[in-house]
Amino acid sequence: MCGIVGYVGGREAAEVILDGLARLEYRGYDSAGIVVADAAPGARLDAVKRAGKLDALRSALQGSPLSGHLGLGHTRWATHGRPNDANAHPHLSEDARLAVIHNGIIENYLELKDRLQAGGHHFASETDTEVLVHLIEDHYQAAAELGRARERLVRAVRGALTEVRGAFALVVAHADHDVIVAARATSPLVIGLGEGENLLASDVPALLPYTREVVFLEDGDLAVLSRDGVEVTGFDGAPRRRDATTIDWDAEAAEKGGFDHYMLKEIYEQPVVLQNTLFGRFAGNGLDVRLELELDPRAIDRVVVTAAGTAFYAGQVGEVLIERLARLPVEVEVASEFRYRRPVVDERTLCVVVSQSGETIDTLEALREARRRGARTLAILNVKGSSISREVDDVLYIHAGPEIGVASTKAYTAMLAAFELLALYLGRGRGTLPDALAAELLQGLRELPQQVQEAIDRRASVAEVAERFKERRDYLFLGRGVNVPTAFEGALKLKEISYIHAEAYATGEMKHGPIALIDRSMPVVAVATASELYDKTVSNLQEVRAREGTVIALASDGDDGIRRHADEVLYVPAVHELLSPIVNVVPLQLLAYETALRLGRDVDRPRNLAKSVTVE
Ligand code: M6R
Repeated sequence: MCGIVGYVGGREAAEVILDGLARLEYRGYDSAGIVVADAAPGARLDAVKRAGKLDALRSALQGSPLSGHLGLGHTRWATHGRPNDANAHPHLSEDARLAVIHNGIIENYLELKDRLQAGGHHFASETDTEVLVHLIEDHYQAAAELGRARERLVRAVRGALTEVRGAFALVVAHADHDVIVAARATSPLVIGLGEGENLLASDVPALLPYTREVVFLEDGDLAVLSRDGVEVTGFDGAPRRRDATTIDWDAEAAEKGGFDHYMLKEIYEQPVVLQNTLFGRFAGNGLDVRLELELDPRAIDRVVVTAAGTAFYAGQVGEVLIERLARLPVEVEVASEFRYRRPVVDERTLCVVVSQSGETIDTLEALREARRRGARTLAILNVKGSSISREVDDVLYIHAGPEIGVASTKAYTAMLAAFELLALYLGRGRGTLPDALAAELLQGLRELPQQVQEAIDRRASVAEVAERFKERRDYLFLGRGVNVPTAFEGALKLKEISYIHAEAYATGEMKHGPIALIDRSMPVVAVATASELYDKTVSNLQEVRAREGTVIALASDGDDGIRRHADEVLYVPAVHELLSPIVNVVPLQLLAYETALRLGRDVDRPRNLAKSVTVE
């Protein structure tokens, strides 16, 4: 959730940290803070913290810039305590010589706080994080015999770690030491290896202007960074070997590239992303796909898919595809529920987890639960080296590149493409997918990037619809079959970034209740593209119109008849029904974007949300 940046080296730390925080601000943004040190014996650390976005911190620093070659910075997404200056990180010890930043939750913080307060510690914030400062301070005092030796700080952090419970990433600096000590217990941390400098961050984009050589910390790792090197051990001090990974996308790929918003850039990137996801995975015979998976399609009897948010809707499309092509029963469940309901899985169950970030805690824990219960596991993932990638049996990467906009777009279409590949792989491997249908779908997938480009090119007509309906307070989204999830994803996009209330239903469900809501004031966005159930969809649209509802229909090119049943029509290229969710979601992404823009919303950083949800 929160953004973390640490730096030690020859540059002005404050500049590197502010730059890094700006690249991570999408992770959480209700307050920000920075601390800078120069390892001067006896000195106090300089910290500046401000509620609000990073600009508030920048303004505060303009008057009194911080100078030093070691520092920590943080953007916060509040869990414990309001987003104000006092609760912003870093948190300092009472003597202002020790600083801590943290992402995640310390579950036993209340009992620790009681004990520390009883021992004479004074707390300046309402956060769970501050408990860490006082705990480390106690352990630091207890190791006084080590004087200014670096080991003293490391031992203090290790000691504190034995007392805390939770899922977190912790980063510590002390005025007497020219090192940063970092520990990972579930929340992500990645180290950037430089020449005469080293960095750390909660996500790769913050590191890319300085290095592409990175080390992903794993759970239970403790790292000590100095300007000359990085040492990784376990919390117990035993050395751990962590190999560096070379990141193959550059800082520019994580920038806006001329677009007004990351979200818009990412919508426009979808044709290229689909090429990256799909191409190179088709077999030369035009009938099969080549996925580098250990999975034997005949060794499973059933599939469960679990994920959160947009990735969950991708999983629901996957359900239809796998059932249809591989004739395997599939269940899909939100990860936050799956992990707690003692799921019935065994070694003949394939558990598919889906995640852009690979760090969503609900999804990670759902994966762990499935593994504990003996399921075979596969992840559809974007971020390489992420926590999920390290714990799963097989990974199918979507190759979407960095997705910065909080509202997921290109990762969604790439996840759908990955599910198309997986369903084909399972269907062909199990002998349930005939040659003719396989050939048709594979040819359709080859044409898909171009058709998604055409859907994007029709942005102007979506903008007109957004303009017409931008003041409406409620929306209903409908879809059938493989496009039920399209309706849900369209509604989610609209509510996330425009804050308009939007509900989604399977079209056939409307008459069982939601129809009561229909009146002139509520636009109904209906996916009515070519499908087996097209005629039934049209009947449902008539039911809406009979109640003076306003229909915005999504229709396939060439369907002139739909105009009789709709107030507005958004056309998309005609594609095979099983591929249609990939094309159909594009106008819905654009509708959300164009509406939010007209309402003056902060498209890339919508209120209350964070890009990567690493708390429960
Ligand atoms: O990184 P993940 O794919 O695991 O994230 C899951 C959800 O948090 C994410 O899709 C969220 O719903 C987005 N804000 C949707 O736009």
